[in-house]
Amino acid sequence: MMSVATDILDGHGGVGDGAVLDAPPQQAVAGRKASVPPDYSTKHQRAMEKLLLSSAPSCHQTLPDGRFVVPAEHRPPASAAGAVSLPVIDLSLPRDEVRRAVLDAGKELGFFQIINHGVPEEAMSDMEAACAEFFRLPAEDKARYYSEDTERTNRLFSSTMYEVAGERYWRDCLRLAVFPVDDEAIRDGWPEKPSQFRDVLERFIVPTRGVGMELLRLLCEGIGLRPDYFSGELSGGEAIINVNHYPPCPDPNLTLGLPPHCDRNLITLLLQGPVCGLQVAYRANQWIDVDPIPGAFVVNFGHQLEIATNGLLKSVEHRAVTNSTAPRTSVATFIMPTMDSVIRPAPELVGADNPPRYRTFTFRDFMTIYKQVGARRDSVEKAFKL
Ligand code: OGA
Ligand code: NI
Repeated sequence: MMSVATDILDGHGGVGDGAVLDAPPQQAVAGRKASVPPDYSTKHQRAMEKLLLSSAPSCHQTLPDGRFVVPAEHRPPASAAGAVSLPVIDLSLPRDEVRRAVLDAGKELGFFQIINHGVPEEAMSDMEAACAEFFRLPAEDKARYYSEDTERTNRLFSSTMYEVAGERYWRDCLRLAVFPVDDEAIRDGWPEKPSQFRDVLERFIVPTRGVGMELLRLLCEGIGLRPDYFSGELSGGEAIINVNHYPPCPDPNLTLGLPPHCDRNLITLLLQGPVCGLQVAYRANQWIDVDPIPGAFVVNFGHQLEIATNGLLKSVEHRAVTNSTAPRTSVATFIMPTMDSVIRPAPELVGADNPPRYRTFTFRDFMTIYKQVGARRDSVEKAFKL
């Protein structure tokens, strides 16, 4: 059986007859310019419309089929942990204070929000608007990016399983490689519509990635690693963004936008927009709602940071719930290692009294295994713990 969580996060789809629906060939390689005039009017577009929630020919009045119904124990609202909320850290405070706050928050809940981080408000609001606009484009414009080929980095997909065994989740996703932005091939892989999209993304991603790198430096200082420990290969992979789009859902109590999962990367910065939906695991079977704060990023650590810090900083499960009225668009920026980087607990953090808790592997090996075991915290722990 396929591992549902990973397949969903990677957006495995499948049209049911074994074929993998892929974008037309001129889009197959980022950086390659279209050589033939596109024809998206056809089978490809119609197949996309079947799966992409935001391109369904009409609004959904009911869940399209039973596969959106998640098992009872995973259904919202569950026990959202009422009074608990994520710490909000003001990055303009003195560095010592920020370092302490980031470390405490990271150790305690594994999730926090940051404000006054230096990414211009306009860069964030333009990004939110451009992404929401992307999902409102007519189907023929979106069809050129739609693909079910999970090997492709840049693609539009729905986290839906079209096959009998698969759960489906109420989320469409545009995933893009975004680093380094001055690489023409990277930019050429980005949507050309809406017309401002590429410029807006560049203005957003450069400072956002900068904040992520700065947080990594602060964390290093806090835990006793040299500040540039995560520079270079460990953070030099194709940074990725997921533009998640959750259309209004006819039955938010039965389904989820994203299942519980941990992120696979080092650190994630999420622009969650004004609509609630993100929930963070808290103690046994409880979930904390993450309140939208204008201009804030939600920050969390991925598996690689947990492993590299020998478990000091935890990668915490989270999920997305849906609602029946407001479409929600979020932008997750993932800082990733290169595929060949060697991932292991930092030698500085292990010793006779604190033996390494994880094995050593390349990020490529991690991804291979991760795709098999799924994105749940326990399964990844089991696969990589010593
Ligand atoms: C993700 C994610 C949450 C959200 O993209 O990995 O957890 O609120 N997104 O969209
Ligand atoms: Ni996530």
